[in-house]
Amino acid sequence: MHSALLRHGDCREVLPTLDAGSVALAVTSPPYNCGKDYGDGGDSLPWDDYWSFTREWLALLLPALVDGGRLAVNLPWWMGKKPRRDVPYAFKAAALEAGYLFLDKIIWIKGGEENLHVSGGFGGGGCGWGTYMSPSGPVIRCASEPILVFSKGGRGRKITSGEGRGACVRGDMTKEEFHAWTMDAWFVRGSADKSHPATFPVEIPKRLVKLYTFPGERVIDPFMGVGATGLACAAAGRAFIGVERDRGFFDEASRRIEDAGRQGSLFGAA
Ligand SMILES: C[S@@+](CC[C@H](N)C(=O)[O-])C[C@H]1O[C@@H](n2cnc3c(N)ncnc32)[C@H](O)[C@@H]1O
Repeated sequence: MHSALLRHGDCREVLPTLDAGSVALAVTSPPYNCGKDYGDGGDSLPWDDYWSFTREWLALLLPALVDGGRLAVNLPWWMGKKPRRDVPYAFKAAALEAGYLFLDKIIWIKGGEENLHVSGGFGGGGCGWGTYMSPSGPVIRCASEPILVFSKGGRGRKITSGEGRGACVRGDMTKEEFHAWTMDAWFVRGSADKSHPATFPVEIPKRLVKLYTFPGERVIDPFMGVGATGLACAAAGRAFIGVERDRGFFDEASRRIEDAGRQGSLFGAA
């Protein structure tokens, strides 16, 4: 059975309404603050304001996580024009300040190794290579993004009651999935979804959900976009909470997740 609770609004208003200790994992890709058109003009904040916003939602999310719950966040490497400012370091500092523990990092490489030499690059790498074939000013193009993983409290998760009680109970990954997904480089082709300017492919949240939660647990995406994390949860049998501020993206996510979970789903939108 798949359940989804979808909320249209600002996650900073929704997060405080969630039951404390009710969510095992947050998987999200927050706004990158790079001027994307999310319909509200809010993706171009001054650097300091962006980090105030980030600290705010991080702090509001923490109480909703179970002890040992995780936050997996997909970020850009940098923001702004040159000199660019590093994002993962600033994000890590904000998360530590908000009370999270840093666990791990994964590099999502947006394609297979065979694509790295394709002219024009892939996965957003584009052809902004600076001075073409000249050492005078080549630009390193972006074909990857970091995913940082944090936890609330301790490193491990315990099932404290019912079937599977114990400290180290198997989840629902295959041996091959576990071996591949515990490596810190993930080769996953970027999303080609045209309905939103900044989606990740469902494969990314699918891996995170299966790696960090047990079947039936609850996962949240406070910046749901058009619903990739919700689709991953529907496929993996996890309950989902999704929050999205833009009405159009919210409606699209609702439609997709409802379709995906239609068989035996318990669906609520508000
Ligand atoms: C990078 S996109 C996420 C895309 C998503 N991972 C997907 O694959 O569809 C960030 C999303 O956060 C939404 N957003 C921005 N600020 C928000 C806020 N304060 N509360 C909720 N959603 C917000 C934007 O409208 C945008 O859709």
